[in-house]
Amino acid sequence: MQEILKELEARRAQARAGGGAKRVEAQHAKGKLSARERLEVLLDEGSFEEWDMFVEHRSTEFGMAEQKVSGDGVVTGWGTINGRLVFVYSQDFTVFGGSLSESHAEKICKIMDQAMKVGAPVIGLNDSGGARIQEGVASLAGYAEVFQRNVLASGVVPQISVIMGPCAGGAVYSPAMTDYIFMVRDSSYMFVTGPDVVKTVTHEIVSAEDLGGAGTHTQKSGVADLAFDNDVEALLQTRRFFDFLPENNKAAVPVRPTADSPDRTEDSLDTLVPANPNKPYDMREAILKVVDDADFFEIQPDFAKNILVGFGRIEGATIGFVANQPMVLAGCLDIASSTKAARFVRFCDCFNIPIVTFVDVPGFLPGTAQEYGGIIKHGAKLLYAYAEATVPKVTVITRKAYGGAYDVMASKHLRGDVNYAWPSAEIAVMGPKGAVEIIFRADLGDKAKIEARTEEYRRRFANPFVAASRGFLDDVIMPAATRPRIARALAMLKTKKLSNPWKKHGNIPL
Ligand code: HXC
Repeated sequence: MQEILKELEARRAQARAGGGAKRVEAQHAKGKLSARERLEVLLDEGSFEEWDMFVEHRSTEFGMAEQKVSGDGVVTGWGTINGRLVFVYSQDFTVFGGSLSESHAEKICKIMDQAMKVGAPVIGLNDSGGARIQEGVASLAGYAEVFQRNVLASGVVPQISVIMGPCAGGAVYSPAMTDYIFMVRDSSYMFVTGPDVVKTVTHEIVSAEDLGGAGTHTQKSGVADLAFDNDVEALLQTRRFFDFLPENNKAAVPVRPTADSPDRTEDSLDTLVPANPNKPYDMREAILKVVDDADFFEIQPDFAKNILVGFGRIEGATIGFVANQPMVLAGCLDIASSTKAARFVRFCDCFNIPIVTFVDVPGFLPGTAQEYGGIIKHGAKLLYAYAEATVPKVTVITRKAYGGAYDVMASKHLRGDVNYAWPSAEIAVMGPKGAVEIIFRADLGDKAKIEARTEEYRRRFANPFVAASRGFLDDVIMPAATRPRIARALAMLKTKKLSNPWKKHGNIPL
């Protein structure tokens, strides 16, 4: 017995050592934590239950039979984050560069399968040189097994990818199919082909950072949701983020006790919207003043800044917020903001997270760049997402709600449950100036006449009362009372039941 215990300890120690002290040192020198250190930061202390510590690869080519490291480059298992169950994998760059072998993939698939059985989220910490080159197609098969599970898990359990090192080639497609991608600045990158291939094929000279670093993906491509300065910050923020998420698509959203009263009013909101309708204001302020404890976890804050999306809580329960941001492009909907918000709305709908929408939208962004880029199809994504969503939907129009964008932004007509407007709301086919220039084109030469017509249009349509008189708004509310009114609406909607007609799946305009 003593012997076997000693052997167990020795084997464990060997597995924990990964690729050895030298390689761990090299990892540290790059400012990166090791795979196990990362899990220590991510999970509650002492909660990690490791699986498959003794798994080894089975390849024999290129001298691999003599090079075996217990665990085979990925640490897998389960633990808790603030007491809630989560399955994890953490790739170990010190072992064959974290590359994915058949066995490595099997370990990841095993925890994904278990997560699906018990209904718990999966967090993957990615740090890998990609397919294990020595294994050839066996490694590609391993990736495909992971991809298949990503898709089956999509909409069943939340999946988060944290990119903490290289992630290249087809390997990027597993994170791409998860719900959220977080990256670490200066030490992580994602691309389908690296700088060398790019140079050969397109003659472009680009660094790995510029091609696929955290800045590129959180600001330009929108592939990643958030960028953090280092491993510890990324992992601590992942913990904070996890607290907002339900465990699975049948679980209720988590509720955290709060001392912030749902009846709290905010007088400053009465003056948030400037008197001049063309002056911007920061919609983030409205969200921060409405959520519990001003705690708002924004997603994609550096991409398509004309729309804000993220999670907050009301009466302790998670709520998804979507809001036009008048500070950027006057809050217009364009390709990037439509796809950003559509994906967020669909995530909320998958996981029974109610959606609160703040609207100040002058319309879709005009121009050839948008039309050639397919704004029709991409704008339709947001329309589709809102129309399809069956979760509680509460909408507050703060100012402009013009044209098709009025319809899109969780209007009553798309099964908005509770639709409010502030007194400053203007709901019409278009702004007064544009409207008058079209319907009174004959008077364009007469400045005084046009001004009078514009004023008349403004008086008749640039207010919330026409929509309210049709029942398209349930009430016109004082801005200061927004939090209590939303809180009451959400409380009323707690038992909402609504389902869409049976179908295999819809055909969202991709
Ligand atoms: C096997 C690998 C490996 C791989 C790295 N290593 N990538 N072993 N398969 N894919 C090993 C190295 O041999 C080295 O071993 C150790 O990991 C660290 O690698 P270094 O090159 O020394 O590290 P660094 O300089 O930091 O460079 C990291 C790297 C580079 C940029 C990731 O290793 C690299 O370019 N690797 C190959 C990347 C790649 O082309 N992968 C295939 C992508 S295609 P020692 O023993 O010296 O420590 C793909 C297809 C997926 O993944 C398809 C899915 C459908």
